[in-house]
Amino acid sequence: MRQMWRPLLLGAGLLLPVTGFASVADRALEWAFPPPGEQPVRGTEVHSLPGSALQLTWAQVHTRSHVPDWYPAGHPAAPEAVLVNRDAKEYACGYCHLATGQGRPENAGIAGLPRAYILEQVAAFRDGTRGGADPDFYPVEAMRGVAHAVREDDLAAAADYFSALPRTPAAKVIEASTIRRVIGTGFSYAPAPGGGTEPLGQRIIEMPEDVERFELRDPTVRYTAWVPKGSIARGQRLAARWGPSGAYACAGCHGTGYRGAGAVPPLAGKSPTGIVRQLAAFRIGARHGGQADLMRPVAAEMTAGDMIALAAFLAAQPVSAAP
Ligand code: HEC
Ligand code: HEC
Repeated sequence: MRQMWRPLLLGAGLLLPVTGFASVADRALEWAFPPPGEQPVRGTEVHSLPGSALQLTWAQVHTRSHVPDWYPAGHPAAPEAVLVNRDAKEYACGYCHLATGQGRPENAGIAGLPRAYILEQVAAFRDGTRGGADPDFYPVEAMRGVAHAVREDDLAAAADYFSALPRTPAAKVIEASTIRRVIGTGFSYAPAPGGGTEPLGQRIIEMPEDVERFELRDPTVRYTAWVPKGSIARGQRLAARWGPSGAYACAGCHGTGYRGAGAVPPLAGKSPTGIVRQLAAFRIGARHGGQADLMRPVAAEMTAGDMIALAAFLAAQPVSAAP
């Protein structure tokens, strides 16, 4: 994937350094916007995944208008717009959010989101009222491009499809003070070549359990998010009584178990890095469309540490009620 982003970034005139982090207003949140990194040049050999009938070259996997559907039996029949874009220059939704809607750490899981919310958010990306906290973080700019290009009937079909899919947890959340050494790459993280460990510090490091399968856009890859020691309990306390006299307690709007209420989106089981990026975007007002006016006072006073704790706690909550 990283190979793909570079010419794109150049083409868009957004010349980013390929190593090093993009500039985000709050340096304490830089870790939430990992860089594109460098991708070794790949050959034409075919790749396969266990239990899948597909055999695809690297270039086929990374054709933005044709999504590799490795496991078609793993999701209901998808409308064309999810898997194919008739315009070869444009992305199909599933290229980034995957055919299962599971998403990836640099974008968002959209399976099981309320249909009205999906439509409202795409409209906000399109009219410019939803941006990211870091204008140099390319994935958000790409989503804005998709929102401009998508046809209304394709969007409606995609929203029907994704909203009916089951939600799945984005990552297994583990508290740690030391983690394996990592590099920021592919707008996500990977183990650093050469191994070793490093302090986690005040960051959340979310990464695929198998980087090669992540790069092959395997929707069954699982993720781990390392969060600071004590952050889950601290996040639980903050979520329960945020704001003046607890007026902004998260469940008040996001529903029992933070599983969503009406058109207000769920937070339970979301990517913790994604939660932090959104809180940062509300805080600086880069996300101000849709119903964002309800969220802006909630995020206005949040420190980076508050965001980390809230994200760690919410990401660790189950996506469905216990039976
Ligand atoms: C090029 C990659 C890419 C493609 C293709 C793409 N998206 Fe996205 N999408 C993103 C990113 C990145 C985000 C997260 C943006 C942010 O951080 O604010 C996102 C966010 C969203 C959200 C908001 C989710 C939330 O939790 O708030 C919705 C809804 C969405 N996309 C729908 C779609 C639909 C429908 C399509 C197809 C028409 C599509 N996307 C295609 C990259 C993509
Ligand atoms: C007064 C109601 C309200 C309260 C209280 C509230 N939220 Fe929200 N939140 C919303 C609404 C509405 C949205 C959707 C905003 C939009 O349309 O852009 C949202 C969106 C979000 C998102 C983005 C989700 C996504 O899928 O992109 C995050 C993250 C979030 N809220 C976190 C929190 C946290 C953490 C708390 C508690 C500290 C909280 N919210 C409290 C109403 C609320």
